[in-house]
Amino acid sequence: MSEVPDGYQFNQKHLLGLTDYSKEDILFVLDQAKYFREILDRTVPKVPTLRDKTIVNLFYENSTRTRLSFELAQKRMGADVVNFSTGSSSTKKGESLKDTIRNISSMKIDMVVVRHESPGVPHFLTQCVDAAILNAGDGAHEHPTQALLDMFTMQTLHPDLTGKKVAIIGDISHSRVVRSNIIGLKKLEAKVVLCGPKTLMPVYVEDMGVEVSYDLNETLAWCDIAMALRIQLERQEGATELFPSLREYHERFGIKYHHLEKYPDFKIMHPGPINRGVEMESEVADSDRAVILDQVTNGVAVRMAILYLLSGGTRV
Ligand code: CP
Repeated sequence: MSEVPDGYQFNQKHLLGLTDYSKEDILFVLDQAKYFREILDRTVPKVPTLRDKTIVNLFYENSTRTRLSFELAQKRMGADVVNFSTGSSSTKKGESLKDTIRNISSMKIDMVVVRHESPGVPHFLTQCVDAAILNAGDGAHEHPTQALLDMFTMQTLHPDLTGKKVAIIGDISHSRVVRSNIIGLKKLEAKVVLCGPKTLMPVYVEDMGVEVSYDLNETLAWCDIAMALRIQLERQEGATELFPSLREYHERFGIKYHHLEKYPDFKIMHPGPINRGVEMESEVADSDRAVILDQVTNGVAVRMAILYLLSGGTRV
């Protein structure tokens, strides 16, 4: 089954992670996002769908793509948008997360988009306020909208992902993107292989229900899609103990131009930001085999879709 069944109804109140979303929920969000993707190509890429809604973007951690993409999605749909970043807020004076969110909520907010370095913060916020909560990345736990936009982009290459072969390469241990992608891709019945150094594989990798390879060539020869993950130096304590050097990492696990010539079929994805010359050569990131910037464009459409559905929209 790769289509939303007749009579399906979307009943989610929040997007905390893809664990809570069924296969049908995921397919439905991706299906709705197709409509919003078409809107983005119009001369006037706007719809008034959220004109009576007020949304706060609560970013406690740095972001370029997710923050701008959510804000653009909200503005494309006519919402009133307020942006919170810790650097210029009373968090600096010691205000707790709970007090911050309860104060913001008192200003009659309908939806909260939150990124935080601690896993579980989006869940915690559901206990503090009535607004719909959307997880924009919580520590190394989940990044559900990234996985949704990744799966949307994969569907543009392979409309039915059943049995499609997805390799996720790099820093598996520290990645929230990989966790949400594994959950989502398994629900859509894609085949997933994780590839990277042993030291960047989580100890519970055997329990994730996916295959593991330590051989980049073997992985690239196998896959339809290769998603490289950023080496997250900021989350790695004692990074030099996990692999000898970035140069050696690139040598063994970086995608190089000669791989594109040797294995002509796979497409390349990356959630960003890219460390050029580490996860892949610059020429690879800029090649016509990469759909990295398509992921970014599709991200706006996917976020428009989930905002629409969580604001009470039923079906476009
Ligand atoms: N992919 C992603 O989450 O990028 P940002 O950190 O720039 O939002």
